[in-house]
Amino acid sequence: MIPNVTWPNELWLDALVQAKQLDAQDVLKEKRQAFVIPDKTIYLDGNSLGPATDAAQMAGQSVVDAQWQTDLIKSWNVHDWIRLPRIVGAQIAPIIGARDDCVIACDSISINLYKLLHIALNLQSDRQVIMTQEGNFPTDGYIAQGLMAHRSDVSLVYVDEKDIIAQLDESVAVLMLTHINYKTGYMLDMRRITQAAHALGILVIWDLAHSAGAVELSLDEDEVDFAVGCGYKYLNGGPGAPSFVYVNAVHHNRLKQPLTGWMGHANAFAFEQDYIPADGIDSLLCGTPNIISMAVLKGALTVFSDVNMTDVRQKSLTLSSFMVSVIKQHPALQSLELVTDMHDAHRGSQIALAHPEAYAICQAWIAQGVIADFRSPNILRIGLAPLYISHLDVLQAVDALALIMQRQSYRAEQYQTRNAVT
Ligand SMILES: Cc1ncc(COP(=O)(O)O)c(C=O)c1O
Repeated sequence: MIPNVTWPNELWLDALVQAKQLDAQDVLKEKRQAFVIPDKTIYLDGNSLGPATDAAQMAGQSVVDAQWQTDLIKSWNVHDWIRLPRIVGAQIAPIIGARDDCVIACDSISINLYKLLHIALNLQSDRQVIMTQEGNFPTDGYIAQGLMAHRSDVSLVYVDEKDIIAQLDESVAVLMLTHINYKTGYMLDMRRITQAAHALGILVIWDLAHSAGAVELSLDEDEVDFAVGCGYKYLNGGPGAPSFVYVNAVHHNRLKQPLTGWMGHANAFAFEQDYIPADGIDSLLCGTPNIISMAVLKGALTVFSDVNMTDVRQKSLTLSSFMVSVIKQHPALQSLELVTDMHDAHRGSQIALAHPEAYAICQAWIAQGVIADFRSPNILRIGLAPLYISHLDVLQAVDALALIMQRQSYRAEQYQTRNAVT
């Protein structure tokens, strides 16, 4: 690896030695082979869309060729398609510290939030306030607002995520929080907040979009009520992969979800006139599962089958602290402002850097083979997925960024025009 011209020599050598040492100690390094990442690409966007794996690709081919094409509709039974939401849920359960029968894969986060908000409000008939954090991912707030269109008694309150516990009171029915902030990477204390909410009789819904597969979670132990998460980010299930829902077993016998589709019926194939919910987590289903996506996610999840989430978290922390230490020392990178709180307890698996030209910088970086993303208005967002990124990748990525900043190549016209998806 040859450094570009931007590095002070000593800093380069120190950083290189450190990267190599950290990679030598990396117990997850063999996992990189499971992923299919294009040549000359450093992928720092797995917090938006995880990359393909051989296992996911094979599962996709198999569900189309060996199952759909060959066994046609028999596949619902022969290949257990009908149970895929639970099978995939059971694969996700150990990754999030949950019992198998508390997790099911279905729909999207947005739809699952709608179901959970409705369920939680139903359980809290004497309270009508939904509380969430300012700067939460928009869909979470939008879904609450959509629900309020049918429930004029319900109100939505936004609070500062750095001070949630102090703002709880007994008027709150549901606290709906994203565990790791999609923009800044700030991570909330799930256990402490859940306990404080319960002490005031508040139910909590956690959005784990940026957590599942990236950090250690213990939903059962932390007595979380409800959670949703994403199949296409750190779980690498492919674009539009199904979401998952977690419901703590203590709530299983009192679930009344609003989207009462036939797949959530106690006996879907009895084709009865009236809706009777299935028991427990199965009642969270609505319509026919998206089998092709679900099968691809199932394949992708096999990569996690022998992974210890403590190792994943440990590596995530060293990747981000190494990256930030090199960025902070590099003279060409001082105009990038670190937004992420670097305390271990408060950072997820991503780094956010603010700069007025963040969009163009990101485009110029992508042109150099380093894929990160941009979040409006000024954030360069860097996802550090421990299963396929090395510390040497991080160093190379910083190297490319330093050259862009030093030469101000991001000012070129081709990097200024915004694409439809940023
Ligand atoms: C915190 C958070 N929630 C939800 C979503 C998206 O939800 P959906 O699966 O409905 O598209 C995202 C997408 O990036 C997210 O970051």
